[in-house]
Amino acid sequence: MRLITILFFCSRLLSSLSQESFSQEIDCNDDDVLMAVDAALKKYNDGNQSGNQFVLYRISNATKMDDFDTFYSFKYQIKEGDCPVQSGKPWQECGYKQSADAATGECTVTVAKKNRTFTVATQTCQITPAEGPALISQHTCRGCRYPISTEDTNVKEILKHAVSHFNNNSARSHLFVLGKTNRAYKEVVDGWNFDVSYSIMQTNCSKADFPLLTPDCQILSNGVIATCTDRAYIDLSQRIASFSQQCYFLPEYDFDAGRCIGCPKDLPLNSSDLNEILNHTSTKLNADYGRTFYFKIDNVKKATVQVVSGLSYRIKFTAKETICPKESNTKFTSSCETKEPGQVLICDANIYIVPWMNKTESTVNCDLKTVV
Ligand SMILES: *[C@@H]1O[C@H](CO)[C@@H](O)[C@H](O)[C@H]1NC(C)=O
Ligand SMILES: *[C@@H]1O[C@H](CO)[C@@H](O)[C@H](O)[C@H]1NC(C)=O
Ligand SMILES: *[C@@H]1O[C@H](CO)[C@@H](O)[C@H](O)[C@H]1NC(C)=O
Ligand SMILES: *[C@@H]1O[C@H](CO)[C@@H](O)[C@H](O)[C@H]1NC(C)=O
Ligand SMILES: *[C@@H]1O[C@H](CO)[C@@H](O)[C@H](O)[C@H]1NC(C)=O
Ligand SMILES: *[C@@H]1O[C@H](CO)[C@@H](O)[C@H](O)[C@H]1NC(C)=O
Ligand SMILES: *[C@@H]1O[C@H](CO)[C@@H](O)[C@H](O)[C@H]1NC(C)=O
Ligand SMILES: *[C@@H]1O[C@H](CO)[C@@H](O)[C@H](O)[C@H]1NC(C)=O
Repeated sequence: MRLITILFFCSRLLSSLSQESFSQEIDCNDDDVLMAVDAALKKYNDGNQSGNQFVLYRISNATKMDDFDTFYSFKYQIKEGDCPVQSGKPWQECGYKQSADAATGECTVTVAKKNRTFTVATQTCQITPAEGPALISQHTCRGCRYPISTEDTNVKEILKHAVSHFNNNSARSHLFVLGKTNRAYKEVVDGWNFDVSYSIMQTNCSKADFPLLTPDCQILSNGVIATCTDRAYIDLSQRIASFSQQCYFLPEYDFDAGRCIGCPKDLPLNSSDLNEILNHTSTKLNADYGRTFYFKIDNVKKATVQVVSGLSYRIKFTAKETICPKESNTKFTSSCETKEPGQVLICDANIYIVPWMNKTESTVNCDLKTVV
């Protein structure tokens, strides 16, 4: 194996990233990024019937997007190597072609990671030969869903349609406007599928007085907010041929419009939503902790809710061991009394709920409180 130098022009992990963003810049020395680059470059080399393989030169602008799936987007630069495509060697075993007429290139790519396999969703490479014009090659995987910019023109058109669809069909008394676009995904089929998620906010224009939105319709500072997830199919003539919309109205604890949607917000400890969240928390707590006896949530110290593509609740609490044994096959109920003296846990829970998908994910992390 020959040694070649690959340059990493990437940032370190940014920890100051805003909570609401689902994409983050990452270090391209990350193992997953290297595997994603390998998948992308193999894909490029496999598409070439003749000539030399291209070899990695450097990686830049790597970002990771985490949703239900994980995606890596990055750029990488390549140089023509010294082994032919037909040699069947992995590109890692090729050197750079040492000649003035070696071609160079740059690729922009999005790779999906699912179940530890990396699939190239979309890749565009621009190859610059020593002489002659640059060549563009484009690969997009059919049926692969991948994130795209919320600034995409199709996405913008769909959002316009979506707000209009909502206003035409909702039973609300007032018109709504687009708040923030959270995510957009695209999938190439015979035409294109798009999934978009965004928020909409109530304006001061009542439907009775305003058939359509006008610039006079301003966001109400104490208005209602909903988050929506839509799917649109755009056919080959660039028409929105089918469209479905699911909107979920956020609970009423004043998500006032001037604030940042997507920032964590304190949840009052007496709010009715908290009971349901604590129920999930208790189930997960007892699934993960307590060998012999059930634990009971004792004191909730802080609760926040954050609107992402769903609602993400974080709860800080303490839990106490109870006298109800787990083995007895009896269900844990809130009437189980705490054990004195018993173990005390200091816990953090994250409960993620997507109401319109009936989806709940819980994680609970606890430390045993040491008695002094
Ligand atoms: C194959 O490689 C050559 C350069 O060696 C490049 O010009 C050409 O675009 C590549 N073909 C494909 C299909 O990528
Ligand atoms: C890539 O990263 C460089 C350096 O961090 C930055 O200047 C450039 O704008 C980025 N390009 C894109 C397309 O994000
Ligand atoms: C994930 O990969 C493992 C091993 O390769 C396989 O057994 C499993 O069925 C895969 N799961 C899914 C959901 O594709
Ligand atoms: C909403 O209604 C208006 C007026 O009837 C119509 O022009 C518009 O196309 C409708 N929007 C959607 C998305 O159906
Ligand atoms: C909505 O509020 C804006 C700004 O306060 C105001 O200019 C506008 O007239 C209001 N529209 C209605 C329909 O009340
Ligand atoms: C929660 O407590 C606040 C202040 O203590 C009170 O104003 C509010 O009405 C309470 N809400 C409920 C649902 O009990
Ligand atoms: C908690 O969840 C259980 C099922 O997991 C259900 O039977 C119970 O009614 C729930 N309690 C509350 C207060 O939601
Ligand atoms: C969620 O659950 C409700 C009631 O159980 C059901 O009507 C609805 O179809 C479910 N939605 C999804 C996306 O599974």
